[in-house]
Amino acid sequence: MSAPASMPDWYQQGLPHIWLPYSQMKTAPSPLAAQGTQGSHITLTDGRTLVDGVAAWWTACHGYNHPHIRQAVMRQLEVMPHVMFGGMVHEPALRLASRLCALLPGDLERVFFTDSGSVAVEVAMKMAIQYRLNKGERQRTKMLAFHGGYHGDTLATMAVCDPEEGMHHLYGPALAEHVIAPLPVDAASTQAFMALLARHAHELAGIIVEPLVQGAGGMLFHAPDVLRTLRAAADHYNVLLILDEIFTGFGRTGTLFACEQAGITPDIITLSKALTGGTMALAATVARRHVFDAFLSDNPEHALMHGPTFMANPLACACANASLDLFETEPRLEQVAAINAVMAEALEPCRTLPGVRDVRTLGAIGVVELQHIANPDALRQHMVAHGAWIRPFRNIVYLTPAFTITEQDLRFLCRTIHTVLAG
Ligand SMILES: Cc1ncc(COP(=O)(O)O)c(C=O)c1O
Repeated sequence: MSAPASMPDWYQQGLPHIWLPYSQMKTAPSPLAAQGTQGSHITLTDGRTLVDGVAAWWTACHGYNHPHIRQAVMRQLEVMPHVMFGGMVHEPALRLASRLCALLPGDLERVFFTDSGSVAVEVAMKMAIQYRLNKGERQRTKMLAFHGGYHGDTLATMAVCDPEEGMHHLYGPALAEHVIAPLPVDAASTQAFMALLARHAHELAGIIVEPLVQGAGGMLFHAPDVLRTLRAAADHYNVLLILDEIFTGFGRTGTLFACEQAGITPDIITLSKALTGGTMALAATVARRHVFDAFLSDNPEHALMHGPTFMANPLACACANASLDLFETEPRLEQVAAINAVMAEALEPCRTLPGVRDVRTLGAIGVVELQHIANPDALRQHMVAHGAWIRPFRNIVYLTPAFTITEQDLRFLCRTIHTVLAG
């Protein structure tokens, strides 16, 4: 990877010292140099502006640089950028915790803050395991997770991702062993799932699933019925149900949380990504009352032993509170419905292109699934040449735009996908 001579000094000097994500550093094209963001646009140092179809890995739901979020950060910066959360609390975090619990279904009422999605999932897994340990059940330490699932890149979360199809199969020998099953999507798979659960329930602490959409596993959709099946199965076998709403939370599937569409309440839910409107790193693991109660004891060892240094960072909590304000004051879910209507119509012509296997949309997610993408980097570069920031992966070209994107920009993104795939 080399730095083109036309790039600024900081790029020339820094690139030889940076290690990029998911990149073969020998062959990957040099990264673009972002200079600024606004709304659904990213400006590059060479003066080009790209229309953004990804919203910073599915986070920037209000568009970039929303003034309400910026003002909230500036105000918080003046008062208290950070303070430790051990033995001390502060207004932005407690206000956020109570607001989240008011929005979440059922008695999801205890919030544990962390700073990334993967760690939020690890905390959910620790909660589920220790819930059993605190009840004296030492053998229930495994998770049941699903083919096509993705829950993060850390060692513990890789172990509950799809072991074959995911991007982590190389690490297999280093990972903890869990039970990974096909999703119960029809009568036959439900029967097989129930049989598997019956065999493994004695060693399971939790069932973990991304509700409605398995994102990084390939933007795979399933019906709300699947979640109702999982809720009933978890209740039957007394296993905790963990919904990973890190991608789906905050409107992406058309409701504020995906679980609302199934009318179920998980025992634990994980949130991140759009929690701060994509402005700062923050994640939350929220537990129901009965989960929290299992940690209340006169025995200090029954406490949850976790505490990231930057947990509940006040700046990030201020962002998240401002983001929730915007969900209250601006018509985000209506915008998601409008985005869905445009994408469903404007991506449809892709269906007849050679090599296209499926076109599907849910909420503000638009997917063109191909048989195969030989070179995702090259495809991305084609999109950039047209002025669009779209990041294909595996066999998927997808859009997860900001909910505030204009119809003109959204139609441009859909047209670009069609033009590039047709070319
Ligand atoms: C469903 C889901 N869980 C967990 C994660 C991991 O989040 P992070 O990248 O913040 O660690 C992701 C990230 O894409 C995700 O989509």
